[in-house]
Amino acid sequence: MKLIAAVDKNWGIGRNNRLLVNIPEDMQLFRQETNGKVVIMGRKTFESLKEKSPLYGRKNIVLTTNKSYDAKGAVVCSSVEEVLDAVKDYDDNDIYVIGGGEIYKEFLPYCDVAHITKIDYKYDADTYLENLDKKALVRIMTEPKNAIVKQYQRLFELDGVKLEFKPDALKAIADITLERKTGARGLRSVFESVLKDLMFKAPSDYTIEKVIITEDSVTKGDEPIILRNPNKNPKRLTSSNLKNA
Ligand SMILES: NC(=O)c1ccc[n+]([C@@H]2O[C@H](COP(=O)([O-])OP(=O)(O)OC[C@H]3O[C@@H](n4cnc5c(N)ncnc54)[C@H](OP(=O)(O)O)[C@@H]3O)[C@@H](O)[C@H]2O)c1
Repeated sequence: MKLIAAVDKNWGIGRNNRLLVNIPEDMQLFRQETNGKVVIMGRKTFESLKEKSPLYGRKNIVLTTNKSYDAKGAVVCSSVEEVLDAVKDYDDNDIYVIGGGEIYKEFLPYCDVAHITKIDYKYDADTYLENLDKKALVRIMTEPKNAIVKQYQRLFELDGVKLEFKPDALKAIADITLERKTGARGLRSVFESVLKDLMFKAPSDYTIEKVIITEDSVTKGDEPIILRNPNKNPKRLTSSNLKNA
């Protein structure tokens, strides 16, 4: 399943049940991309369409909790499961989630491709799509075997210290990286500046058992949460725990 959207700089997508801006080239791209395909939309987006009628040349699916909703020839579904059942015989590549905010959120877990038009302007939006660049960066930081978070956790483990990042801290690191426009390559320098002091502190204070990096540690340089255990034994560096690092 694919998602298609036009977002502004804050990933805003709409205001007062209308698009933020009409860009003819983007509309054309949308038509080309979805022509002859299945499009899934929420009732509010359906009602924002011209003449409140289904998009021509596509199989339209409209989600609403109103079972007697008249969508003028579009297929009406009243739950995500009902939609999944209605599209089960179509090729995954031919199914497009076209909004709005509620529908993107509910169908995001089923989408493996997102066509995003980025509009280089901040509008006064009231409806948003989750920032997928940020989401992707957080996954890059945490999921691969050699993800940067895991690397630092192994490094701290050498001193017997558990290192935890609060989800908001990771999002804040992603924000800084995106702001710098450095991509995933720029992550290490952000991690280094967040963890710099701790890298010196942890080996010299063996009572430190756990360090929790919070959003404020990232954005304001606040001290992370440090949990100590006065009875903790200093962890010795051995060739085996070095090998595991
Ligand atoms: N920039 C873009 O690419 C783009 C694309 C599309 C839309 N938009 C914008 O997005 C805004 C609309 O988004 P929105 O979040 O307000 O509304 P929406 O997602 O279009 O529609 C929400 C409605 O869908 C129905 N619905 C949602 N989940 C459901 C479920 N699980 N089961 C049954 N029905 C369900 C409900 O209808 P009922 O209330 O009838 O039950 C709900 O009120 C507009 O401003 C529009 O212009 C932007």
